[in-house]
Amino acid sequence: MRVLPWPIINTLNPEGSNVANIAFLGAGMMGSAMIKNFLKGGHKVTVYNRSQEKARPLQAFGASLAATPMEAASGADIIMSSLTNDEASRECWNGRAGVLQGDLKHGAYAVEASTVSIDWVKSLAKLASAKGLRFLDCPVAGRPDVAEAGKLKVFAGGTREDVDTLRPALGAISAGVTHMGGVGSGIAFKLIYNVMGAIQVAATAEGMFACEAAGIDVKVAAEAFSTGATGSPHVVRHSRYMAENKHEDPIQFSGRMRIKDVDYGIRLIEERGAQSVLGHATKQVFGQMVELGVGDRNDSELIDALRMAAKQRVVGKP
Ligand SMILES: NC(=O)c1ccc[n+]([C@@H]2O[C@H](COP(=O)([O-])OP(=O)(O)OC[C@H]3O[C@@H](n4cnc5c(N)ncnc54)[C@H](OP(=O)(O)O)[C@@H]3O)[C@@H](O)[C@H]2O)c1
Repeated sequence: MRVLPWPIINTLNPEGSNVANIAFLGAGMMGSAMIKNFLKGGHKVTVYNRSQEKARPLQAFGASLAATPMEAASGADIIMSSLTNDEASRECWNGRAGVLQGDLKHGAYAVEASTVSIDWVKSLAKLASAKGLRFLDCPVAGRPDVAEAGKLKVFAGGTREDVDTLRPALGAISAGVTHMGGVGSGIAFKLIYNVMGAIQVAATAEGMFACEAAGIDVKVAAEAFSTGATGSPHVVRHSRYMAENKHEDPIQFSGRMRIKDVDYGIRLIEERGAQSVLGHATKQVFGQMVELGVGDRNDSELIDALRMAAKQRVVGKP
């Protein structure tokens, strides 16, 4: 019999199902959905969010709120975060009232689910293990609606034993946990995956706008792209938004977030001696959203930035 190496053994109920005390940092779109699903799965969740009012609705689902990450993490079996970027993650884990400044349960799990840089993940793993925590990087794939449905894909980096121990708890938020390798492998894969995804979204915007410029009905073009060899899930979803000129409301993933992921991704790829020519081009394409003041709009609204840029080119011609 495999001996569970973690303190959740104390919270195993008599039927043997895992009920964990979870500290969750970040009640944004992804975090809130994951928190609700952990609660539905019977876990106890204490939430920290920088803007406290955004976390309050989670109390109705059974969550407790904490004023600081350190307070949330005290006594937790699993400390998990879903935050915007490296700065946010650094602040919540290692800031003045961060998780790592507190008294933590020895052997508890530190799980970074945000899409952050591999350099930060590796530093965080070292800091966490110095505090007696077991670290896993578990970034997720799937938009907020997928997160609400508890069907995220989790790409896990850590020891096989740690990943297998957390698998039942992560089952509450996901349709599958793939063990990608040791610590850092989960985020490495996720960044490469997101660079590929961003390339597809940028290609969809350029292709759709090129069709429009060539006088082709964009609804017909979207249907043909979606049912042809080009029809990846990204192309299917984004070409429809672009054709109907109807984008997600509220915004699910912005142009600026695409740039963040591609930036982290390019750095990872190039530092390992591989190339990301398409990553650089994609960053440049999404960069037009920021330059034209629509960087915080949905990534599918990239097509509007391309329209604006084309108009500027025409106007600029002598
Ligand atoms: N949206 C998607 O489709 C999707 C899919 C897969 C993965 N992801 C990844 O999941 C993570 C969360 O994304 P999201 O869509 O949930 O974003 P979101 O709704 O904007 O939430 C971001 C969270 O980070 C917090 N935050 C930002 N800056 C902070 C700081 N300096 N200090 C402390 N907290 C800070 C926010 O707190 P406030 O509420 O106070 O602003 C909020 O809790 C990101 O890493 C993203 O790349 C997103």
